[in-house]
Amino acid sequence: MEALKDVRILDMTHVQAGPTCSQLLAWMGADVIKFEPPQGDATRAQLRDIPDADSLYFTMLNCNKRSITVNMKSPEGKSVFVDLLKKCDIVMENFGPGVLDRLGFTWEKIHEINPRIVMGSIKGFGSSGPYANFKAYENVAQAMGGAMSTTGVPQGRPFVTGAQIGDSGTGLHLGIGLLAALRHAEKTGQGQYVEVAMMDGIMNLCRVKWRDHQRLTRGPLPEYSVGTHQGMGAVPRGGNDSGGGQLGNAIRCAPGGTNDFIYIVVQEAVWEALAKRIGPEVHMPELATDPMFATIAARREHQKDLWEIIGEFTLNHSKREVMAIFNEINVPCGPIMSTEDLAHDEHVNLRGMYVELDHPQRGKWHNIGMPIKLSASPAKIERSPLLGEHTEEVLKEVLGYDEAKLAALKSAGAFSAPPRRRGAGIE
Ligand SMILES: CC(C)(COP(=O)(O)OP(=O)(O)OC[C@H]1O[C@@H](n2cnc3c(N)ncnc32)[C@H](O)[C@@H]1OP(=O)(O)O)[C@@H](O)C(=O)NCCC(=O)NCCS
Repeated sequence: MEALKDVRILDMTHVQAGPTCSQLLAWMGADVIKFEPPQGDATRAQLRDIPDADSLYFTMLNCNKRSITVNMKSPEGKSVFVDLLKKCDIVMENFGPGVLDRLGFTWEKIHEINPRIVMGSIKGFGSSGPYANFKAYENVAQAMGGAMSTTGVPQGRPFVTGAQIGDSGTGLHLGIGLLAALRHAEKTGQGQYVEVAMMDGIMNLCRVKWRDHQRLTRGPLPEYSVGTHQGMGAVPRGGNDSGGGQLGNAIRCAPGGTNDFIYIVVQEAVWEALAKRIGPEVHMPELATDPMFATIAARREHQKDLWEIIGEFTLNHSKREVMAIFNEINVPCGPIMSTEDLAHDEHVNLRGMYVELDHPQRGKWHNIGMPIKLSASPAKIERSPLLGEHTEEVLKEVLGYDEAKLAALKSAGAFSAPPRRRGAGIE
């Protein structure tokens, strides 16, 4: 049985941060009703690869949901919203600051309408503090939460990471909060407001950088290949340094293409085996006991030379060969996998992490699968809904509306687009 069977979610989220959370909850079996403005979530039309079809941006984040379209700027649309609030266990949103309040639905009001309902909210910076009124996108959060200042090469510019830690990362935080609040509501009959600020989520994900921030008050950070000193203040960008207790780096492999690298962690426990395996091939048979590398402190001090020696070995092998060789002697390592590598990877395929789906507008396409594997409740991945595909179905089944009521609401404008906002682009 699905783990979240009978949990009904009114999902007002849009773009990425919210939808990534509600998609996971849908994959756990919740009935997720995606509540869209009549013109739809803007991502349906963003970065389109097929004219007039829902974009991959949308389809990849909205699987297993039902879509209904309601105009929240009409009194009739608001009455549909209120009726749905009474029938749902969770309502979630990631609008810009104050949007729901302006529509007349503060948390207090929602709690009054349905005291059991749990409300999930993602904001760039939360609802309090000097940044509360600012909008945010992924990279704004990465910039302000400390991720960018610690990512990149030491003397270069700050970099964003490819992983969507601001959007999808915040979605994960929200998911955990919603499930905790749901359990609480089941026990007490009282819902609560769950808020996750993207900036807070990034700070949480950068936790070990804060370990280093405080260590810098007592002395340098010897594991960094870039020089550090006591009292320097900000944690520097560490390039591909491991950032942990063990030394690590990305080393080039044959034949030397853009992604022909392997990340290797020279764990203390494996140094001897590693040195004995690579030493003879790089004409250093005594590498294991060489005083420049024999202890972790010595390896830290001479890490540039260490990476060059390992690189001499890896340049003779492909990244997959190095992975096999190093795993045989228990050295933690991982080839740098491109999206193309992963799309054809046997392991990925076997774990259901790159799933083929069909879609009425776009034909065959792929989604990333469910990363959380529940033994008794495996996820069944289904395509994303078309805009408003389930409006009638949901309003009849969940709210018990009849044809006459639906027709009256329709002619009153409950499902029509509100006048377009000035400057609100879609593409
Ligand atoms: C992402 C973000 C920057 C987008 O900004 P935006 O496109 O201007 O959208 P907003 O959320 O501010 O506003 C949505 C508008 O649609 C309207 N709307 C939403 N649902 C509606 C509905 N069903 N019917 C009618 N109108 C609706 C809202 O009332 C609001 O209109 P308003 O500006 O007149 O108040 C902003 O939503 C945001 O900061 N969100 C929080 C942080 C976040 O999640 N960011 C990551 C996104 S991946």
